Amino acid sequence: MSVFSREGGSSLTPEEWHTWYAAQAGWTRQTRQWLYREAGLGQARAVLEVGCGSGVIAGELTWLGAACVVGLDLDRNILAFAHRQGDGVAYVQGDAHELPFPDGAFDAAVCHYLLLWLADPVRGAREMARIVRPGGCVLACAEPDYGGRVDHPPELVPLGRLQAESLRRQGAEPEMGRRLGEIFAAAGLRATVGTMAGYWNPSASPNADFEAEWAMRERDLAGSLPAQELRRLRSVDRQALADGRRVLFVPTFYAMGRSGG
Ligand SMILES: C[S@@+](CC[C@H](N)C(=O)[O-])C[C@H]1O[C@@H](n2cnc3c(N)ncnc32)[C@H](O)[C@@H]1O
Repeated sequence: MSVFSREGGSSLTPEEWHTWYAAQAGWTRQTRQWLYREAGLGQARAVLEVGCGSGVIAGELTWLGAACVVGLDLDRNILAFAHRQGDGVAYVQGDAHELPFPDGAFDAAVCHYLLLWLADPVRGAREMARIVRPGGCVLACAEPDYGGRVDHPPELVPLGRLQAESLRRQGAEPEMGRRLGEIFAAAGLRATVGTMAGYWNPSASPNADFEAEWAMRERDLAGSLPAQELRRLRSVDRQALADGRRVLFVPTFYAMGRSGG
């Protein structure tokens, strides 16, 4: 699994972003469900997702039974798309660095692949801590760490480095995962931090994920590698997958914090 940017070579439609976000959410589903149970989100009345994108995670949060689920994002276009889904989420435009809500307004604040994109992730985490009630929960469900990426066979190793460089050029922090503990601590949150396990099962519908990953990878690496080399690596990747040799593992961290009180 890997995570890709929103700022690469060509712009995607909100529908295309939605397809991509849904694929990402598929990789982290098991961990999220565990985190929701551990955090007691089933009892929460008001939950905020910060950096909600097209609403994949915010929509899922409504199934847990909260009376009020709010999704916040900077991007008006993706919010308009999310709103059209009619999923019962209240979508709000705003900045994670300055959440437009009073102190203690929510029982829980959740984010998923957000902190790596923030100019000041400590401030983002502080804001989430501020808007949850004392004893409320802040969940960073998934933040990748490209510094620990494993690619096999060796021919595919450069993909990880190029991907990380591309993220950095776009202002993201590709090694956000390892920083989650210090960020939550700096935000005054008592946190449990962990990483998701990886698994490789080539027989379990590799095609959809393979195509989605390569569509985004080609978009992201268009300025870094000639198209011909990208095509070659794609076919090496496909063959390795078919042979059962392919390993692609990006350590993906989570953090579950309680606000003081
Ligand atoms: C990788 S997407 C993840 C979307 C969603 N959480 C999901 O997993 O499907 C990151 C989202 O964060 C939003 N974002 C980035 N910086 C932000 C900021 N400062 N405040 C609010 N949203 C922001 C982007 O617009 C984008 O929709």
